[in-house]
Amino acid sequence: MEKDQYRPETNAVRIQTEKTWQMEHSTPLFLTSSFTYDSAEEMRATFADETDNNIYTRFSNPNVDEFVQKVCALEGAEAGFATASGMSAVFASFMALMNAGDHLVSASSIFGSTHTIITKFLPKWGIEYSYFDINKPETVEALIKPNTKMIFVETPSNPGLEIVDLSVLAAIANKHNVILNVDNCFATPVLQRPIETGAHIVTHSATKWMDGQGRVLGGVVVGRKDLIKEVHTFCRSTGPAMSPFNAWVLSKSLETLHIRMARHSESALALAKALENNPHISWVKYPMLESHPQHAIAKKQMSAGGGIVCFELKGGLQSGTRFLDALKMLTLTANLGDSRSIASHPASTTHAKLTDAERAQVGITPGMIRISVGLENAQDILEDILQALEQSK
Ligand SMILES: Cc1ncc(COP(=O)(O)O)c(C=O)c1O
Repeated sequence: MEKDQYRPETNAVRIQTEKTWQMEHSTPLFLTSSFTYDSAEEMRATFADETDNNIYTRFSNPNVDEFVQKVCALEGAEAGFATASGMSAVFASFMALMNAGDHLVSASSIFGSTHTIITKFLPKWGIEYSYFDINKPETVEALIKPNTKMIFVETPSNPGLEIVDLSVLAAIANKHNVILNVDNCFATPVLQRPIETGAHIVTHSATKWMDGQGRVLGGVVVGRKDLIKEVHTFCRSTGPAMSPFNAWVLSKSLETLHIRMARHSESALALAKALENNPHISWVKYPMLESHPQHAIAKKQMSAGGGIVCFELKGGLQSGTRFLDALKMLTLTANLGDSRSIASHPASTTHAKLTDAERAQVGITPGMIRISVGLENAQDILEDILQALEQSK
């Protein structure tokens, strides 16, 4: 079998920076700000794009390239660029591909900082936006205007786990010659490949499941070559580069992404099922539960449900804080996608400043708990949650 015929998870293990003279088995860390040349001619040719040599780590670096190549292989993307965080990936995808006078159509159920970029910063630079209800993709076409440049969506969304049919959005985007940009952070390319469904650009917070152990920040934008060229030019000049160390950590992490996502998904489904009839809970949301409103779409475009489970405590806001205080093993922290299970209560933390109505708009209810299901024994995770539920009344 030729190298380019390997399956994505094999590529995530086998893609490697060329060996140095030491013939190492594991890619070393290339901690260097810049790269050297043997002659003025080699330097000239490199600056003229006539060689593949590196110039400066803000532009490219062997560790960062290895990570990007692996994400491209996993997503089925032509090209990519890695950034310092997920937010710089989302921001770069907007700034590189839209101009003043353009219009963005975005689902309103999106990560809080992405919402801030769209509502506070894009208008400041003359880019208008329209929000649509992620549960009503049929409303998107009516929002498209002659200056619409991009449709942006997160599926499943953070934190509400709302899901949108990517093939519907891809058809609209292609009909109107608009870029479809998908934040694939919650599913990861192991569970969902938006480019195969017609997305032109995929963004990620690599900080979450890609790292998988809560160690480093990172982001990546992958997709069509001509679009990534613009992202590359924007990032090369403005400087949100991923550090070689973070890329080295993340590249190693990708080697185990497929087995980790299978285990996270298996434990999350078991937890969601076990909580469905709990007397302290009014609903449980998980893509692979039949009760999920977009379960049929989840089954069509995702191979498993991922590691996030949400549920609503009957006791509302106050039960939410009591639940967090009663947990013995699950961690209270502002992250997700870790090997250690994490609990969060958006209404009293990340989304505390919003009104109930504003929270409802982004899919957050007063007693909603978000669990990031880790790699501990699934029964230990369930038992901690059950005892905390007892005390949350
Ligand atoms: C869906 C999604 N996109 C983007 C981000 C931002 O990523 P980062 O924290 O790496 O900047 C997050 C962070 O939670 C997220 O959940």
